[in-house]
Amino acid sequence: MKSILRVENLTKIFPGSGIIKRYPVKALDNISFSVEEGEIFGLVGESGSGKTTLARCILFLDPPTAGKVYYGNLCLNTVPWYQWKKLRSRMQIIFQDPNSALNPRLSVRRSLEEGLINLGYSKKQRNDTIRKLLDQVGIPYNQVDRYPHEFSGGQKQRIIIARALSMNPKFIVLDEPVSNLDVSIQAGIINLLMDLKKEFNLTYIFISHDLDLIAYLSTKIGVLKGGQLVEVGKAEEVLSHPLHPYTRFLLENPLSFHSKIQPLKTYTKETV
Ligand SMILES: Nc1ncnc2c1ncn2[C@@H]1O[C@H](COP(=O)(O)OP(=O)(O)OP(=O)(O)O)[C@@H](O)[C@H]1O
Ligand SMILES: [Mg+2]
Repeated sequence: MKSILRVENLTKIFPGSGIIKRYPVKALDNISFSVEEGEIFGLVGESGSGKTTLARCILFLDPPTAGKVYYGNLCLNTVPWYQWKKLRSRMQIIFQDPNSALNPRLSVRRSLEEGLINLGYSKKQRNDTIRKLLDQVGIPYNQVDRYPHEFSGGQKQRIIIARALSMNPKFIVLDEPVSNLDVSIQAGIINLLMDLKKEFNLTYIFISHDLDLIAYLSTKIGVLKGGQLVEVGKAEEVLSHPLHPYTRFLLENPLSFHSKIQPLKTYTKETV
């Protein structure tokens, strides 16, 4: 399999602010891993372990302090600013909180249109694409002129997924995409993400607190603790022969996670 993303010795140090400027935070410490095309790389770790920081560094939304990131053969460290716009469309990120990701002043149509205008689509192409995208994520097209506050959290996350898809990405980082949503609708969003992955041949980095969910979805698993990737490998190997005591701890204490997600047994083949 071809690797779509390779992270080499990535370190992120936040300088620290105000009076504690002398105490910088090493949020990521020498992280290396790769993600192959079509794979779901599950990244698990407790709150504050550096998951979101890693996601942001990979996409250079916040550049790493040291280390390299390769997208295919392209070293992202060397990409000039004017090429980022095009590149970013290929690599999307979906955050935990759907409420802050949509502009409250823009209708669904306007939200989705912005990116398509940048891609140079005509009015007709935009309308056709928006209709198709909303259909794919399960939002009725007759709601296209509504505003974010008229939708539930799950529906907003569907709209955000549609917006990400509109850029024709190859690779999506999902940063705890369901943990802010009602338990009853989480499985529906996970289902949708799995369907879309298959349909568009996507590669995911799926971030979660919940090792049960990560175990179910992922082909490869990375365990982050205090900014260090303490374990990384094929999902079946990590789950059957965890090398690090922290991974063993997570496996033995699934309830130690404060995830709101239903335990693994509810994610049967029929529901996911
Ligand atoms: N902009 C920043 N400035 C300073 N420190 C930061 C900044 N962003 C994150 N940190 C610190 O980096 C560490 C990792 O934070 P991060 O948000 O990546 O963790 P996380 O694993 O995503 O947590 P959660 O599960 O709560 O989302 C934390 O100690 C956090 O306080
Ligand atoms: Mg986070």
